[in-house]
Amino acid sequence: MSYNPYLLLEHALLAADPDEKAALTDELSAAVQNAELAAETAPPLDFRYAGRPARPRLVAPSEVTQRKMNTNEGYAAMLHAICHIEFNAVNLALDAAYRFRRLPPQFARDWIRVAEEEVYHFRLMRDRLRSFGYDYGDFEAHAHLWDMAYKTAYDPLLRMALVPRVLEARGLDVTPAIRAKVAQRGDLETCAVLDIIYRDEVGHVKIGNHWYQHLCRERGLEPVVLFRSLMARYDLFVFRGHVNIEARERAGFSRFELEMLEDFEKSLKAGKVV
Ligand SMILES: [Fe+2]
Repeated sequence: MSYNPYLLLEHALLAADPDEKAALTDELSAAVQNAELAAETAPPLDFRYAGRPARPRLVAPSEVTQRKMNTNEGYAAMLHAICHIEFNAVNLALDAAYRFRRLPPQFARDWIRVAEEEVYHFRLMRDRLRSFGYDYGDFEAHAHLWDMAYKTAYDPLLRMALVPRVLEARGLDVTPAIRAKVAQRGDLETCAVLDIIYRDEVGHVKIGNHWYQHLCRERGLEPVVLFRSLMARYDLFVFRGHVNIEARERAGFSRFELEMLEDFEKSLKAGKVV
């Protein structure tokens, strides 16, 4: 008997309470473990937001209050921001598995596994936040990550290009610097959590890269050229700030592509490409 994961995916995705979402994701992950996945021909629901709790209050990225990391509140706000990224990452992974139904069953299986790892990260980081006397929802947050999911909900190729390959890969660039600041504070428990997140995120970006290549091949599109044009069209960038070449290569970006992209973005910045 093959197992149809789509109803449970829908419940997990729409669950507003983080604990309920996490429990449903655990259930889903266990259910698909050794099961053959059934095909689904019914279309997915279209919704503006996936399930999320009433708090944190969502504000524009520019309106998130900047706090100094050397205060207890500022440090907790930084942990909260990571919690929020992990919570959104659960929704993003569930949404990929739920929405894009015409791909081989391995696609849903891969993203359910990612969702399960994101749940793990969320729980770990929420525990760290709680140990400083705060909880998820206590600070404001922005909807940037989910907005990109909404914008790319009509095409798995676009989703793979812009969410794992741009937004999640950015996490690989910034995590080592965050870890260094956390270590400087002597918070070794949070360092250990960041190490787990960093290790797993390489795998998530790698899965995104794998399916991006797969979809490009299927459609006869040249992956590097397409990616450059998408970056220009959506006004996104990779080479601003530190780029973690080593982690990106492990996550499936080729050195050739990264070099091409750096050149391309330099010329964009210099106004040589229109
Ligand atoms: Fe994560």
